Amino acid sequence: MRKLLPALYHSDRDGRLSPESRVIAMSRGGLTDADFRGKVDAEVRDRVPVDDPAVWRRFLARLHHVSVDVGGADKTGWNALAALLGEHEQRDRVFYLASPPRTFGPFCRELHEAGLVTPRSRVVLEKPLGHDLPSAQRINDEVGAIFDERQIFRIDHYLGKETVQNLLVLRFANAFLEPIWNSLWIDHVQITAAETVGTPGRRGYYDHAGALRDMVQNHLLQLLTLTAMEPPARNDREAIRDEKVKVLQALRPITGTEADRFTVRGQYVEAAGMPGYLDEPASTPPTEASRRVETFTAIRAEVKNWRWAGVPFYLRTGKRMPYRRSEIVVQFKDVPHSIYPGGAPNRLVLGLQPEEGIELHIMAKEPGAGEVTLKPVPLSLSFGKTFTARVPEAYERLLTDVLAGNPTLFMRRDEVEAAWRWIDPILSAWESSADLPEPYPAGSTGPAGAHELLGRSGRAWHEEEA
Ligand code: BG6
Repeated sequence: MRKLLPALYHSDRDGRLSPESRVIAMSRGGLTDADFRGKVDAEVRDRVPVDDPAVWRRFLARLHHVSVDVGGADKTGWNALAALLGEHEQRDRVFYLASPPRTFGPFCRELHEAGLVTPRSRVVLEKPLGHDLPSAQRINDEVGAIFDERQIFRIDHYLGKETVQNLLVLRFANAFLEPIWNSLWIDHVQITAAETVGTPGRRGYYDHAGALRDMVQNHLLQLLTLTAMEPPARNDREAIRDEKVKVLQALRPITGTEADRFTVRGQYVEAAGMPGYLDEPASTPPTEASRRVETFTAIRAEVKNWRWAGVPFYLRTGKRMPYRRSEIVVQFKDVPHSIYPGGAPNRLVLGLQPEEGIELHIMAKEPGAGEVTLKPVPLSLSFGKTFTARVPEAYERLLTDVLAGNPTLFMRRDEVEAAWRWIDPILSAWESSADLPEPYPAGSTGPAGAHELLGRSGRAWHEEEA
């Protein structure tokens, strides 16, 4: 209701769905087509919002609902789905699984048994893809037994964000950055995804996920790979993904006690009128897993290759922070010899949200006749101000790619597994530690440890110096 249906509606409105395309929702809900259309009308209409009622009615008419019980004895739902799809044997089929990952394998098997998987079928898998490397491999095996890798689209909605795609254009369609995009010129990189929301009503999921699995394994590592990858030879699905995998494989493992030095875990506690993680509304009381789960994490990662040796990549994400902001900050080294007091190193800031845009912070002289006073000022590209066209939502872009059969912005099997291979040792180090996550007040910038992580090498998070 929040992401997919609005994205499908916008695709329809902008003429990217063929007249015969249909959207069939599947759930255990027992809804009729009319119930489902009514629900979408009530929950999605104002969200999009609708400017032409006729287009909205056309969209609603495309919607159907089928009730299925994955793994259950009752096959009525699968038969109903087969009947609906049977009328369109020759068309592309996209099976979009936004269900818990343990259902991915059984779901694909049932699709296969019902004879619904055609050569023109694709399957989209929502994250999280497993909860560690072995479970991710198991899911990949199960899905891979039914679908070819070229039919599997593992979605990470961060890759659909406009700035993320612009990062590739900035790097590989402009000549000026490449010569300085390395450890000779870059001091460090910060990748942040800060959210103001907490986890009300999500404890069941979050207790077992935590920020590392929920945000770092996928979104933040994807941003890291795009920042650090080598220029691909072609703009195609395999060339780009090959380069991304190499970055993941070059990440220096963080194992055992190193986790104490290179990672920080935090959990928000009540403050500023906001409840703590353990007091958020949930259907069950908090458990030991709730007390141990991190709602914030910061990590000092390192890409061990020629280009990046010695350049820390600081990753950070948290719930209930004071602002919602996702950004990549590339901080250049300071001038080798300063003739002015008060300078600061150049920074390239790629904003993903709330505003999408790119800023290069350079030093300028403040106007005035006296002493020269330096001030960092941004050379700024705001997508909103520069381009008048509406910026599509990430899901819209990605769904369009799935429909077109283009997997460039989706994660390949080896990519997901390489990401887990790096995450797993951190998870085990945390699991075997007696320490609980550091508390941080809701609405703050995270625990003290996150500031020390940079502070001990004389660095600071972007906003602290902004
Ligand atoms: C999801 C996570 O993948 O991304 C959520 O499961 C998180 O916990 C969300 O809130 C953030 O997405 P965005 O696009 O709002 O940054």
